[in-house]
Amino acid sequence: MRRYTVGMGERDVLMRLAAGETCSGALLARELGVSRAAVWKQIQALRADGVPIEAHAGSGYRLAHPLKLLDLAALRGALTPTLASRWPHIEVHWQLDSTSSELQRREPELPSGSVILAERQTAGRGRRGRKWLAPPAMGLTFSLLWRFEKGFAALAGLSLVVGIALAETLRAMGAHAVALKWPNDVQHDGRKLAGILVELGGDFLGPCFAVIGMGLNVWLPQEVRIQAGQAVADMVEACDGTVPDRNRLAGALLVALAEALELFAREGFAPFQARYVELDVLAGRELTVHKDSESFRALACGVDSRGALRVRRGMDALVLDSAEVSVRP
Ligand code: ATP
Ligand code: BTN
Repeated sequence: MRRYTVGMGERDVLMRLAAGETCSGALLARELGVSRAAVWKQIQALRADGVPIEAHAGSGYRLAHPLKLLDLAALRGALTPTLASRWPHIEVHWQLDSTSSELQRREPELPSGSVILAERQTAGRGRRGRKWLAPPAMGLTFSLLWRFEKGFAALAGLSLVVGIALAETLRAMGAHAVALKWPNDVQHDGRKLAGILVELGGDFLGPCFAVIGMGLNVWLPQEVRIQAGQAVADMVEACDGTVPDRNRLAGALLVALAEALELFAREGFAPFQARYVELDVLAGRELTVHKDSESFRALACGVDSRGALRVRRGMDALVLDSAEVSVRP
């Protein structure tokens, strides 16, 4: 059994503050069995990570917004009864380097459907290797292992399928305006709400696997928004100020992902083409397409039955594969 104890003091402090009450340094120190100096250090470490902890003179520390830590029982309770009884493997960690890296390392020993969630990642990464920023316990950062039989070629469209499952679930949970920017961004109001990282391994032509990593902003403080380097959004604003329950959200996302991935493994992207139309933020818009060393303007025309982007460049109809291009409206 692996144990991850790094930063557990921070977890304990956060857990104690989670309900939103004000707690003095002395009370926290007494309850947690550590010195006041240790409590202060942990508060500082959490703040440095972006957790907004207020200090109130004379009364103590308080979280700007109450939160609930991830809890395996609550998360399992949010799955459907059938899925809860047969979901192969779910782990909740306080801290990992990256949930996707952890799943990659342990892939040989884990069954398809295994999920690893972490409240804090020290090296969360995006598609092109840049950092994924997420203050502890204020978003969802998790990865899912899924095995496929027919090689990499059958997996074109996989990141779109994941995006569709994610976006439909977020809409159903109150984020009504969530949309998808091809190939892998989940947006609210034109700003990035979630990112998807799909990494493939195994046999190029046969049995293979995908490690599907997702980062979703639930409540993203202002300082972190500035660091992100692009326009970002969180679920609280997407849900008009309501703070969604992260355990329920994680459970609902896993249910939707399992349903979508099973369908995708059986029938490919085709059944998702119409669902994508409902969520497509680019359709009918002028884009700048960056392909290899070339850039050109084109009109977005949806996706084809494999999930590739269809565009019109002058009189030419082009189909762009997700592996080759990035698109900026
Ligand atoms: P892009 O969104 O530019 O297409 P990408 O998918 O190619 O990014 P990377 O460039 O490797 O992936 O890294 C992820 C990007 O996501 C970072 O450059 C950063 O701008 C952005 N980012 C990081 N953290 C967050 C966050 N919590 N919410 C939204 N965006 C974030
Ligand atoms: C992107 O926008 O490029 C993808 C971002 C994916 C971030 C998630 S957070 C959980 C998982 N672990 C990682 O290191 N990355 C993904």
